[in-house]
Amino acid sequence: MKKVYIETMGCQMNKSDSERMYGMLSNFGYEETSEPKKADLLMVNTCSIRQLSEDKAYSLIGLWGKWKKTKPDLKIGFCGCVAQQKAKEIFKRANYVDFVLGTHKIYSLPEIIKKINEGEKVCECEETHQTEDNEAIKYDIQRVKSVNAWIPITEGCNNFCTYCIVPYTRGRERSRLPGTILKEVKDALNSGFKEITLLGQNVDSYGKDFKDRNYRLADLLKEINALEGKFRIRFVTSYPTDITDELIKTAVELDKVCEYFHIPMQSGDSDVLKAMNRRYDREKYFEIANKIRKMVPDVTITSDFIAGFPGETEEQFQNTLSAMEELELDYSNTAAYSPREKTVAAKWVDKYIDEDVKTERLARLNEQNRKCCLASNQKFVGREMEVLIENFENHNGKNVISGRTRNNKIVHIDCDKDLTGEFINVKITGSKTWYLTGKIL
Ligand code: SAH
Ligand code: SF4
Ligand code: F3S
Repeated sequence: MKKVYIETMGCQMNKSDSERMYGMLSNFGYEETSEPKKADLLMVNTCSIRQLSEDKAYSLIGLWGKWKKTKPDLKIGFCGCVAQQKAKEIFKRANYVDFVLGTHKIYSLPEIIKKINEGEKVCECEETHQTEDNEAIKYDIQRVKSVNAWIPITEGCNNFCTYCIVPYTRGRERSRLPGTILKEVKDALNSGFKEITLLGQNVDSYGKDFKDRNYRLADLLKEINALEGKFRIRFVTSYPTDITDELIKTAVELDKVCEYFHIPMQSGDSDVLKAMNRRYDREKYFEIANKIRKMVPDVTITSDFIAGFPGETEEQFQNTLSAMEELELDYSNTAAYSPREKTVAAKWVDKYIDEDVKTERLARLNEQNRKCCLASNQKFVGREMEVLIENFENHNGKNVISGRTRNNKIVHIDCDKDLTGEFINVKITGSKTWYLTGKIL
């Protein structure tokens, strides 16, 4: 059997694509290896959200290109979001690449492999804008071994936030059919997964594009919740203004749906939000987050923020810091603004913020995030919580199991037995910045 290695660089959607590509390749006579040096086929699944992630992809294939000099049969594939954007340009930059595969056409992978093994160079990067209904293609998803299965329910995005490349790399928003999703959920549960995370750039706009039915995220959650067995359901990422009261109510009523919302705010300043083309202002976000806090007991709300968006003043940046604090956000992903080709904000060169100012703002954002996380964790000390165990490790001679609560808090517990995949009741005994400690009840 030939061996394949895929380096996955992007978000959960990108990881999910890799799991599908491994699946297709295993039906095609390729076996996964964790050692790139041993592979006959090397693929990089790229991310272009920031310049840094794109640069990492180029330096990795640069290295692989060198390996090819001593191993001429080695095949190299450049896939994912950077591929979708750059298409044939990749061959000019790296002539040792055998195929370029964008995000829209991953289901052509078996065809592509056939062609490259016959010596052809292939580029498959057209935008199809369709829902790829995998019922039509024979492949098993080769999921990463874990307790959590990530299942995409929408592809693409229609929002065109002025900083973001995703609408260009993933195309317009398409919802996958409920039947296809339910089949994937059942397969995952049958193979032992204990947590299902529904994935989308804007998961709460699921179903908006269906012309033949009125079926939204709340309906999908109800159907999944009704499946037998003990498991948890999560959904990410929510766009603030697409979270309906019905969705919140449904999430509260359904026993398997966890108390967790990931709702990127991006900036705490209304003028910056407008320039970002986000469809809410500071007040509206506060209203939504506060409503969720009221309706969902113990809810964890996490967010994403960008520091140094073009034109951002010190005062506007301080509005971001204060929003994080006042909203008592439980955790936030943070990043310095990175200009992306084709996007609107990238053209505002005269408003770019100096690199050192961006770096300094990012550091303050991270400091505020640390404070928020610690404060959020401290609230749970003394509580009894259910933890789904994900890991068993030896830390400095001590055996530790770790997992997550329903509201997505990480808990470390001293324990000599590997309880991975089990739900256990734990008393929370302490809090650190990034995790809680507990003992088994
Ligand atoms: N669909 C989600 C975000 C997906 S992209 C949403 O609407 O919130 C993931 C995160 O990357 C974004 O939330 C944003 O914070 C960050 N990001 C996107 N483009 C960026 C850029 N050009 N520079 C820095 N961070 C960026
Ligand atoms: Fe990007 Fe905005 Fe779409 Fe999120 S909603 S993926 S930030 S364009
Ligand atoms: Fe994901 Fe990066 Fe593409 S965040 S959608 S892999 S640009």
